Amino acid sequence: MGSEARVGSVEIMTPRMIDQMRAACQLAADTLLMVGEHLRAGMTTDEINTLVHDYTLKHGAIPSPLNYHGFPKSVCTSPNEVVCHGIPGRYVLANGDIVNVDVTSYYPAKNGYHGDTSATFYVGTPSADARRVTEVSRRCLELGIAAVKDGARLGDIGAAIQEYAEAQGCSVVRDYVGHGIGREFHTPPQVFHFGKRDSGKRIKAGMVFTIEPMINVGDKDTELLGDDWTVVTKDRSLSAQFEHTVLVTREGCEVLTRRRAVLLQSEDVAWADVGPLSCPAAVAAREQGAAAVTAT
Ligand code: MF3
Ligand code: CO
Ligand code: CO
Repeated sequence: MGSEARVGSVEIMTPRMIDQMRAACQLAADTLLMVGEHLRAGMTTDEINTLVHDYTLKHGAIPSPLNYHGFPKSVCTSPNEVVCHGIPGRYVLANGDIVNVDVTSYYPAKNGYHGDTSATFYVGTPSADARRVTEVSRRCLELGIAAVKDGARLGDIGAAIQEYAEAQGCSVVRDYVGHGIGREFHTPPQVFHFGKRDSGKRIKAGMVFTIEPMINVGDKDTELLGDDWTVVTKDRSLSAQFEHTVLVTREGCEVLTRRRAVLLQSEDVAWADVGPLSCPAAVAAREQGAAAVTAT
């Protein structure tokens, strides 16, 4: 069913497929909101896994990471120097930690579509570096999304992200990239978070892909730990990441995983560099002076 139209190797979704993508992406976004409501110092990353796993099943979906190429858990949890693909376990979140939670939902549980979104949360009060890398990565995603439009090129997205990150004294991870998504978790194209404007594949209305910049305080290089999943910064400097799934449209894009409420312990802090594309609700709340403010 449904995957006939392509430009090169990249699928162009029909309106019916897009409706199904919206549903999967909305569930992933709601799951992330739920995580923000429950996250606290003293909790293990495995408790986050249980929250995500149970919520996903309760809503008639399947957590995409579970058994994906042998991944043993239902969500990725990546604290501090972990870049991505952290496996939930006995690690206890401590005051001052940052932690990325990366949710992918396959909905409905049969003949479904994948929706992929992640955010970095603050556990209690962060260091200056933790704040910087988190807010730079939040803004990088927003700038990447703003570069999406029918007729633009993938290099436009990468360049927007790289230019901002490096101007802020941070580095962009090269070893992992965004990706097409739909009936499969990872499909073409590869969406680089670095590059040059006017280069790379042209993007077309109906394409659906993720943008998920991983930004480091220190060097861009990564190392894979012995569990064959956990990716850390080689220099063990802090790393942060935000991710959305987007649909390319004629005018720009639709952020399919946009949140309908403020992400607690991330977008609600006073210094959060919230943008209009990821979470219109957070921007509206801030403009009304209604965003909960966490003391620095
Ligand atoms: N959600 C991740 C991404 O953004 C992929 C996780 S794969 C897993 O592409 F197996 F680690 F879950
Ligand atoms: Co992804
Ligand atoms: Co993801």
